[in-house]
Amino acid sequence: MTRTVTITDNMTGKQVECPVLEGTCGPPVINTKSLYKELGMFTFDPGFVTTASCRSAVTYLDGEKGVLLHRGYPIEQLAEQSTFLEVVYLLIHGELPTRKQMDEWAHAIKMHMMTHEHISRFYSAYRYDAHPMSIMAGVANAIASYYHDRTDIWDPDNRLITARRIIAKMPNVASKCYRYASGLPFVYPDNARSYVENFMYMTFSWPTEEYTPSAAAVRALDLLFILHADHEQNASTSTVRLAGSSEANPFACIAAGITTLWGKSHGGANEAVVRMLEEIGSTSNIPKYVARAKDRKDPFRLMGFGHRVYKNYDPRAKIIRKACHDLLEEEKLNQPLFEIAMELERIALEDEYFIKRKLYPNVDFYSGLIYQALRIPTSMFTVMFALARSAGWVAQWMELMKDRDFRIGRPRQLYIGRQTRDYVPIEER
Ligand code: ACO
Repeated sequence: MTRTVTITDNMTGKQVECPVLEGTCGPPVINTKSLYKELGMFTFDPGFVTTASCRSAVTYLDGEKGVLLHRGYPIEQLAEQSTFLEVVYLLIHGELPTRKQMDEWAHAIKMHMMTHEHISRFYSAYRYDAHPMSIMAGVANAIASYYHDRTDIWDPDNRLITARRIIAKMPNVASKCYRYASGLPFVYPDNARSYVENFMYMTFSWPTEEYTPSAAAVRALDLLFILHADHEQNASTSTVRLAGSSEANPFACIAAGITTLWGKSHGGANEAVVRMLEEIGSTSNIPKYVARAKDRKDPFRLMGFGHRVYKNYDPRAKIIRKACHDLLEEEKLNQPLFEIAMELERIALEDEYFIKRKLYPNVDFYSGLIYQALRIPTSMFTVMFALARSAGWVAQWMELMKDRDFRIGRPRQLYIGRQTRDYVPIEER
């Protein structure tokens, strides 16, 4: 028997039977497609918090149980045993690669890392103090122009080439955002290095010196990239899908994702965490800031606490918290903000306000601390996030393009403006 949910309009007595769709994990969803046709009504769900916008087989998360799966693999196992580049392959192709497939994939990515030389000149149009996220979104959009006529988004092989291009070029684009702002010359990729090491080399090497980052630093960054690679239908991913639904150029879709990620309620949170810790300045000031966070009249919120979906704990935060401790210990780094962060975490987790609202540290509470330990400037944090999340954006875009329900996204609204009225000539107003 097909499961249905009946919706009744108690004013007219009219009914509509909506089919219930079952996924492989998670709550079933009510297909409300016939609602408008049958009852002349839309659904109202600000922020789309109970709306499934698509079918997807890429990532599953259960916010109550703190579960995150990529193509079925738990994030804990991927974090422990995989690499970022392998996770990207998994997200895009749906399966873990064989050794041969992995070698070919890594090689193909290396071969696409360069950008057209003109792109390097594009950066100079930005002010020296421009936020790197603004630059990154602009450059991603500019790259769209290089492949526009040659990209057939309806051809699966072409989509795969596009995916490789995006994954390969993002470290190059991101590194230049930093170098431009720092007044450093741009660095070409070095094919002898791994994906993450290559990014670090292009970003942090000095023209006059040899550069080899420590293995611990490369591993910490690789782990952070794994943890940020995809996260289901969040704001930036939904933006990428919405842009993609209009058949926009894939690089332009990624630019739309970068723009959305920039906000401090989303990817900008890791930057906001460090700025907040700097503002707190000392453990003795923590109670004052916790009191402010609890005061409804004060807009201040504890950055890095709370999550729209994870209401018990963020599984990525658990992994990253440990990595943060390990890195600081291994590298013998003196990180004054870490002490404040740990004390803030302790106080907030014991506080009734945070316990009652299930507000736990999220992944960004710790990622900023790791970036800082790696001496990555604060304004670059969200760029790192965008670089990693490009993997998810691409995988979700590719899935969208072959969705049997593909159509341009078009949400509806509950109109609360003025009803029809007559135009009044300016002299009579
Ligand atoms: N500090 C203090 N109070 C908070 C916080 C916080 N960080 N987050 C939520 N609350 C309070 C709200 O004021 C509200 O209180 P009330 O019930 O008394 O009105 C209650 O907790 C529920 O808050 P909502 O805003 O409904 O929670 P929502 O799920 O919509 O918001 C969000 C989630 C945006 C992440 C929010 O917790 C927040 O702003 N956190 C800080 C920013 C942050 O860290 N963002 C990163 C998200 S993770 C990511 O993008 C990878």
